[in-house]
Amino acid sequence: ENPIKLAVIPGDGIGPEVTAEALKVLDVVAPGAFAKTHYSLGAEHYLATGEVLPEKVLDEVKKQDAILLGAIGGKPNDPNIPPGLLERGLLLTLRFALDHHVNLRPSKLFPGVGSPLANPGEIDFVVVREGTEGPYTGNGGSIRVGTPQEVATEVSLNTAFGIERVVRDAFARAQRRTRRKVTLVHKTNVLVHAGTMWWRIVNEVAAEYPDVTVDYLHIDAATIFMTTDPGRFDVIVTDNLFGDIITDLAAAVTGGIGLAASGNLNPSRATPSMFEPVHGSAPDIAGQQKADPTAAILSASMLLDFFGMTDEAARIEKAVAADIAERVAGESRTTAAIGDAIAARV
Ligand code: NAD
Ligand code: IPM
Ligand code: MN
Repeated sequence: ENPIKLAVIPGDGIGPEVTAEALKVLDVVAPGAFAKTHYSLGAEHYLATGEVLPEKVLDEVKKQDAILLGAIGGKPNDPNIPPGLLERGLLLTLRFALDHHVNLRPSKLFPGVGSPLANPGEIDFVVVREGTEGPYTGNGGSIRVGTPQEVATEVSLNTAFGIERVVRDAFARAQRRTRRKVTLVHKTNVLVHAGTMWWRIVNEVAAEYPDVTVDYLHIDAATIFMTTDPGRFDVIVTDNLFGDIITDLAAAVTGGIGLAASGNLNPSRATPSMFEPVHGSAPDIAGQQKADPTAAILSASMLLDFFGMTDEAARIEKAVAADIAERVAGESRTTAAIGDAIAARV
């Protein structure tokens, strides 16, 4: 069989450190399955060349089958990098240009993981975060800058097409799970225009899935239940910004951001999907081998799963679970040592 063409974008900060471990594990579990092309993009490349994501590189990446990404983002408040330039110009441009409308972010409490919750119970849910719309599109602007009348807008863009496709994905996913429950998280009591459309479409799609239970929570209340009763969630469907926020919280309650994986999917497969940890470049610990590579390794497992290599994906997940079960609070293994340990178990 032809190898899967994989673009590797390690990126910034801890990105290269954790990506190296994900590749290490992939090489053990699926040797020869991938033909990799490395792209050095991110803060360093920008500072050296002024380029963020050249058209030519984007065109090349479009021809790959998938992308494995580390993290994007320079040092905080670097005067030489305009705010959001890399996040918008690289990460979001990839998500938008490649139509990654399903941003899939699973949260599972592995046995033995220290949750900050006193009584976490069983936690196993996925957030289906819309990935191409909401307040992320750049639909806004500033006028009268620097005057007392300065105005800034960030308009949340919600299309019936965009909502319906992500809601359909959430219901189809819920139907394949044991508890078969979809929770819409929004703010329909205030954001009435978008909220009404989300709620209507959720109910229209729900009518086709009589065996799936529908639930609704406002985003503020959802943060309460995420900490007091996370076991109530099965599949959460939500917009781009609410999904960003709730998945960092979900990561925190299931053992920390170092464990949270994600896939930016185009389920149609017309363009390469992109797999990356939920966390960022963590400039505070970058370059010190302090980052936990587990999130990147689990993202690689999601990549295998997406390509139907379900056994290999499950082997990674089992190896991670076994590694986690033996962790002790305050341990200080290096990034590479954690990667080695997981690679040895797959
Ligand atoms: P962050 O996720 O980088 O870091 C938040 C905190 O979590 C930090 O204390 C960090 O040390 C810790 N952390 C993150 N990953 C960890 C890991 N694997 N192991 C151990 N600890 C870990 O979020 P931030 O500080 O808000 O953002 C830093 C930069 O990353 C910003 O430029 C931001 O825009 C960018 N960012 C990028 C992505 C992405 O590429 N997908 C995601 C989030 C943030
Ligand atoms: C994430 C990040 C990104 C987002 C940023 C860096 C653009 O926080 O992947 O969760 O907001 O989606
Ligand atoms: Mn985020």
